[in-house]
Amino acid sequence: MAKDFATMEDSNRSSNASIHAVSDPMRRTLLRGGFAGTLTSLLAPLSAGSLLSACATTGSPGGPLLGFKSVPVSTADTVVVPEGYSVQVIAAWGEPVGLSGEAPAFKPDASNTAAEQEGQLGMHHDGIHYFAQNGSSAGLLVMNHEYVDDGLLHADGTRTWTAQKVRKAQAAHGVSVVEVEQTKGRWEIVRPSPWARRVTAYTPMSFGGPAAGHALLQTVADAKGERALGTLNNCASGITPWGTYLTCEENFIFYFKGPDEADAHQRRWGLRKGNPAGYRWHEHDERFDASKHPNEPNRFGWVVEIDPFNPSSRPVKRTALGRAAHEGATVAMTKDGRAVVYMGEDARFEYVYKFVSRDPIQPGGAKANAALLDHGTLYVARFDSDGTGRWIPLLQGQGPLTAGNGFADQGEVLIKARQASDLLGATKMDRPEWITIDRQGWVYCALTNNSNRGGEDRPGTDAANPRANNTMGHIIRWKDDGDFDGVGFDWNHFVLAGEPANERTDAKGNVKGDAFGCPDGLWTDARGVLWIQTDMSTSAMGKGDLARLGNNCMLAADPRSGEIRRFLVGPPGCEVTGATSTPDGRTMFINVQHPGESPSERSDPDNPRRFSNWPDQNPNGRPRSATVVIRKNDGGVIGS
Ligand code: FEO
Ligand code: CA
Ligand code: CA
Repeated sequence: MAKDFATMEDSNRSSNASIHAVSDPMRRTLLRGGFAGTLTSLLAPLSAGSLLSACATTGSPGGPLLGFKSVPVSTADTVVVPEGYSVQVIAAWGEPVGLSGEAPAFKPDASNTAAEQEGQLGMHHDGIHYFAQNGSSAGLLVMNHEYVDDGLLHADGTRTWTAQKVRKAQAAHGVSVVEVEQTKGRWEIVRPSPWARRVTAYTPMSFGGPAAGHALLQTVADAKGERALGTLNNCASGITPWGTYLTCEENFIFYFKGPDEADAHQRRWGLRKGNPAGYRWHEHDERFDASKHPNEPNRFGWVVEIDPFNPSSRPVKRTALGRAAHEGATVAMTKDGRAVVYMGEDARFEYVYKFVSRDPIQPGGAKANAALLDHGTLYVARFDSDGTGRWIPLLQGQGPLTAGNGFADQGEVLIKARQASDLLGATKMDRPEWITIDRQGWVYCALTNNSNRGGEDRPGTDAANPRANNTMGHIIRWKDDGDFDGVGFDWNHFVLAGEPANERTDAKGNVKGDAFGCPDGLWTDARGVLWIQTDMSTSAMGKGDLARLGNNCMLAADPRSGEIRRFLVGPPGCEVTGATSTPDGRTMFINVQHPGESPSERSDPDNPRRFSNWPDQNPNGRPRSATVVIRKNDGGVIGS
């Protein structure tokens, strides 16, 4: 999410931490050597999700990882790619996903109904993955739709406000599954397709894991606390080795109307009086009024597992992974075959988590692993000032997580994961976003920015978050001791983002290559290239420390040398987010989210093309989030 809503979450007033000394960030950029295994071998079973593929290593064996000429900063209303590359736009907001018998065409004046939106791609594309069906020629694209801009979603914006508009906004959230195929390098959505699916903010789903059925999840509509309706603010995503998709509920609290006096639990999760983010769903859908349904917010903030190969399957909210403003969920595998899920909570001063499954992954796909993510241990990260860290388990009855401290059972620990992490002394981070793992087993997390770091009544700098007024963000990385289930780790900073021409020392950064700010998306491709996507907020873009950085972009980094090159620049107002490729590495799909977004809270429906008209450039249209297909003109591997 790019917008710095006035409500941007900053809810951690716990008194933990302050155990960290300010350190020299340059020291921490030095590599620690001595890793025995390689991620390629550990993740070999992930071929179901085409995360790593031997085919794609054919780009430049033994040669330099980055083989393209970097592109300059841009403010143009287009997608800029290096010489020798081309882009194709597919799957824009409003295009039909290909449900049988339903092909509601997009209406450029935004007059599509809620029912039509249910059969179309949602707004604000984010996390994405290509699930191969026929190698690199055909497969399923599964993607998140994080949020909506009501100024663009409805022909007259929010001037009138009706139940139909709330329903349309809810239908534009969630997840899309589209079948895609290529003919000679051009990609198309297959319509109709038996795999086509929309998951929205009101799709029936289940709870799994220790908090399923918990009293804090029970509502008037669901007295047993076992059935949820919908997923929302789906930001980053992940895939599992058994072929499912993980979609993550990020800034869910914005959707709720809070009571006049929030209690301590509600305050810790950022619930405010009224609905300051302005979604106004509670006006026509009472479950979003938390003053009347106080447990409804507890039913969001989960990682949701979806089986894209079974369109009638019910998505499951996996409570064992903990509740958070979840950015993403990145899966690794231990040497003995257990799943490890790394997760960041994107809010100021919140935490980094990992989950280790109790059981090993079984052969047999989604069905054989239907409960794998329901049993295991959740940990929160503490980064110590000596360059080591600890994963601290969130286990009821251990340490401070007692009934007397408000944790009656494991379900309550998971629902109140923030409060538990506060008591456990976890490290308050600068907005943890995407997480990725390189071929040497280093786990990278983008910390996008935190201008409140070091502010009045806010935590000061620490070793892991070393800059006050952190407008530029940084990428931290760690390597767990022994294996991905290790409870200790070593860490350092891969890069402090910045622009050397900035006057403020803390905004210069130490980038070895092209300047950038506000890292968000991270993805490691099959050759080991670390792709970095930026999300400078629309209200801050082009100003202050970000003045020279143009539009949001995607860069490629060599994890070994630290070199970083700008590969792609998006249109004005967008963030670049989500990356995936075909197994051969010759087609890359990324998402361009909210092109043309207004720096103010909602776009002006009378002037929808004010900041961008990408991708249609239709004189009567409006900017649309869309998927960008990147190909090399010579058919080579992307980035090589
Ligand atoms: Fe939805 Fe944290 O970006
Ligand atoms: Ca972001
Ligand atoms: Ca993000």
